Amino acid sequence: MHARVNGFQMAYEDHGEGTPVLFIHGFPLHRKIWRPQVAALRDEFRVLTPDVRGHGESEATAGVYEMEWLADDIAALLRHLQCGPAVIAGHSMGGYILFAFYRKYPELARGLILVSTRAVADTAEGKANREALAQRVEREGHQPVVEKMLAPMLAEASVHTIPSLKQEVENMMREAALLGLAGASRGMAMRLDSAELLARINVPALIIAGTTDALIHYSESEKMAQAIPGARLHLLEGCGHLPSLEKAEEVSALMREWLREQSSK
Ligand code: MLT
Repeated sequence: MHARVNGFQMAYEDHGEGTPVLFIHGFPLHRKIWRPQVAALRDEFRVLTPDVRGHGESEATAGVYEMEWLADDIAALLRHLQCGPAVIAGHSMGGYILFAFYRKYPELARGLILVSTRAVADTAEGKANREALAQRVEREGHQPVVEKMLAPMLAEASVHTIPSLKQEVENMMREAALLGLAGASRGMAMRLDSAELLARINVPALIIAGTTDALIHYSESEKMAQAIPGARLHLLEGCGHLPSLEKAEEVSALMREWLREQSSK
């Protein structure tokens, strides 16, 4: 499905009924990273999975994709769907968008699920690397992103256990628009530090990370769990940066159990 929000065509899926749970994927992927969770949760919850602007099947626009801007897209989709407050889940860059969303639209979030993400901003070196990547994408296309991100995205063990996974993830990366890859790289570099926000989060939070994540170390999740009042942390042994696909059943079960608990309160 597509909706025209904030001046572009946003692709999304909307399944099931009940408490709305909106899942934001990370860079440079798309909504299908949540495929197992959609299948597992749609009989009990309303599961919304948009493609971020310039990713997957969502239209790309030129410019720097500031996280606040991408958060506005999510809020506009919720409005378009006439959906009230939702549990918002964010994977990696989706977590950065989630923090921007919570800062701007706290009344639209009834709970947060943070997957393989971090609250802190980029270092100066990290920002320079993002700009270099954006420029390479503009010159060379998808290849630099695939070279930089495919190998560290998945734990070796997952690549062996799920033979189709690496190709599936590479395909997702190649399905992003070049404008989207450059725009999101530059937008992530500009993101605010959300470490100060954590103590002020006053909705339930579930935090999930893999212990062999090579892109964002799981200690970032431990720090978020210490700082967010009442947060619950689950570390997945031997899982890389993409728990929703690497440990699909475990992640779906964790989410289902936690969402049920929140709904019964
Ligand atoms: C992601 O998975 O969204 C990225 O690894 C986030 C990042 O590059 O900081």
